[in-house]
Amino acid sequence: MLSDITRGTAVVTGAAQGLGRTFAEALAASGHAIAMLDLADCDVTLDAIERDGGVGISFVGDAANPADVSAFRDVVQDRLPPVRVLVNNAGISPYVPFSETSIDDWHRVMRVNLDSAFLLTQAFLDNLITSGAGRIVNLTSTVVWDMQVKNMSAYVTSKAALVGFTRALASELGVHNITVNCIAPGIVLTPDIEERVSTENLEAYRERQAIKSLARPSDLVSALEFLVSESSGQVTATVLPVNGGRVSW
Ligand SMILES: NC(=O)c1ccc[n+]([C@@H]2O[C@H](COP(=O)([O-])OP(=O)(O)OC[C@H]3O[C@@H](n4cnc5c(N)ncnc54)[C@H](O)[C@@H]3O)[C@@H](O)[C@H]2O)c1
Repeated sequence: MLSDITRGTAVVTGAAQGLGRTFAEALAASGHAIAMLDLADCDVTLDAIERDGGVGISFVGDAANPADVSAFRDVVQDRLPPVRVLVNNAGISPYVPFSETSIDDWHRVMRVNLDSAFLLTQAFLDNLITSGAGRIVNLTSTVVWDMQVKNMSAYVTSKAALVGFTRALASELGVHNITVNCIAPGIVLTPDIEERVSTENLEAYRERQAIKSLARPSDLVSALEFLVSESSGQVTATVLPVNGGRVSW
């Protein structure tokens, strides 16, 4: 089975559901072995990958915990081909007014949304360098540029920091032909968003887009495939918004 894998391993964090699940399945379909790290088990995703003839592993752990990340790395390096693609997708987006945000809330968001990208990138840096065409994709959000966002100060700050991290790493790792980019979704109709965001707010969001339908996870796959393609080696330090042309500034 492993001999069928032609594009190396793609690591996807937060692949148990939502965008991460769709990304993992798409990258498997395009010839990558898939290594998934999530607090929840990714068995449903793994079943779908294997049903379609793909290869992967699901590791339950915290992407913001150094010990979990290093145990994950050991399993990936033991069982799968070298990592060429890293998708830092795991994230949390609690809605809390700034005045009620405790320092612990703040740190939790920074840990999950930012520390995880730091840890995963360091864990697989050797593989990414050796591959000669390493690709890192970080999930930020167009809320960073939005002036109508409330109750998300920690989230927006973490996603803005991820843009800085992306650009700094792109500068530093370009010498190894590693590209580092962000995908910036607007609202994507994942089960989590459909549960937490009111129909009224979703409708208001849709109205402000140029494209009058809201994105589903599958609408972001082409952006990911473009950024991880071996032929996109000159595309780095960018933020690719996928938000239906929503006007935010
Ligand atoms: N859905 C949207 O509208 C939207 C918009 C902009 C940006 N994003 C970003 O895209 C990414 C994916 O979003 P989604 O809507 O699919 O999220 P989601 O909440 O549906 O899924 C996130 C996954 O990450 C996992 N996870 C959370 N904390 C983790 C941790 N510490 N370690 C390992 N796994 C962890 C969860 O268990 C879950 O499976 C996130 O970074 C999010 O901020 C999403």
